[in-house]
Amino acid sequence: MRNRRAALAAVASAASLALTLTACGQNSEGGGEEKKGGSEGATIGIAMPTKSSERWISDGNNVVKELKAKGYKTKLVYGEDDPDQQVSQIENMITQGVDALIIAAIDNKSLNNVVQQAKDSDIPVISYDRLILGTENVDYYASFDNEKVGELQGTYIADKLGLSDGEKGPFNIELFAGSNDDNNTKYFFQGAMNVLKPYMDKGELVVRSKQTALNQVTTLRWDGGTAQKRMDDLLTSSYRSAQVDAVLSPYDGISIGILSALKSDGYGTKAKAMPVVTGQDAELASVKSIIAGEQTQTVYKDLRKLAKIASNMVEASLNDKKPEVNDTKSYNNGVKVVPAYLLQPVSVDKSNYKKALVDNGQYTENDLK
Ligand code: GAL
Repeated sequence: MRNRRAALAAVASAASLALTLTACGQNSEGGGEEKKGGSEGATIGIAMPTKSSERWISDGNNVVKELKAKGYKTKLVYGEDDPDQQVSQIENMITQGVDALIIAAIDNKSLNNVVQQAKDSDIPVISYDRLILGTENVDYYASFDNEKVGELQGTYIADKLGLSDGEKGPFNIELFAGSNDDNNTKYFFQGAMNVLKPYMDKGELVVRSKQTALNQVTTLRWDGGTAQKRMDDLLTSSYRSAQVDAVLSPYDGISIGILSALKSDGYGTKAKAMPVVTGQDAELASVKSIIAGEQTQTVYKDLRKLAKIASNMVEASLNDKKPEVNDTKSYNNGVKVVPAYLLQPVSVDKSNYKKALVDNGQYTENDLK
C-alpha cells in the first residue's frame, strides 16, 4: 500500500507546481499562495469525551480553530462518556479517510483495536490530555504536568489549614479521585498524596471514613452526582459528631457535587464553616463559586495552549517531522514511553483569579459576574 503521508506530500507538491505554472503564465507579482506544508488540506479527526463539561467543549473548539489555521479540514466528535460510542466514532472517521487523529480517551484501555486500525492505515494518533494505554500505536501525548496538578491541590490544602506553617490540627479531611479508567486519575491522586500523606501519617490530617486508598475514592466518569452521593454518605457515616475541614477534589464538576452535599448538611454558615474544597479546570461555574466563597480553589490549565501543542504534533507527524516534546520519561503507557509535551498548571483561588484568568483573556470580568 502506498504510504499515506508520502501521498499527501505528492498531492501538495503537484498542487504547488500547478500554482507556480499558473503564476508564471499570468506573470503575477508576489508569486502565488504561501505554502503551509505538504499536508495542507488533510482532514484531522478529533474525538472528545463528552459535552457534559465545559472544558471539553472548549477543547474541541480550540483544536478545530488551530487546525483550520494550519489549512486542515476537521471532523469533531463527542463520545458522550460512552467508551463503545467513542470506539465506533473513531472507526467511522478512519473509514471516512481522516489523515490524523487527536483522541481524548473516555476509557484509556478500550481503544487498542481502533488505534491498531489507525496504524494499519498509516494514520498518526495523538493522545490528547489523557494517555491511551496498552498500545504502541500512540505517537505523541499532549497534556499537562498531571502530578503537579495534584501537588497544587494538596499544597493548597496544607497551606490553607496552616499545616505547612506548623499548625498541628488535627484536621478532618476526605479524599476524592477521578474516574478509574482515566490515566490522569492516579497522577492527580499521587501528586496530592505526595503532600498530604506525611500529615496523615503524623495524625495532623485525619480521614475519619478511613477511605484512603485510590480504589476507595474514585468517581466513575468524573460524575458530580456520584460524588455528591458519596459525600452525603460520608457525612452521615463519619461526621455526625465532627466537622470536615477539607475535601480533596480533583475536578470542578466533582467539587460542585461535594459542595451540594455539604450545603444540604448545613455547611457554609456561621456555625459550620465550609471546608477547604479544591478543584480543577477553572470552569466558569466553579470560578464564580470561588468568588462567592464556596469552592476554595481550582487548578487552571490553559486549554488554548494545549490545542496548539496537539495541532503542532499533527502537523509535524503528517510532514514526517519530529514535533517539539519536553518529556520523554514520565508517560509509560504499559508498552512504550510516549513522547510528551506537558504544560504547566496554575493554582487559582479568590486572591489571584484576576491575574490568572482575566489578565490572560481566559474570562472577562463580565463573564465572572
Ligand atoms: C481529566 C482532565 C481534567 C478533567 C477531568 C474530567 O482527564 O485532565 O482536567 O477535565 O478529566 O473531565
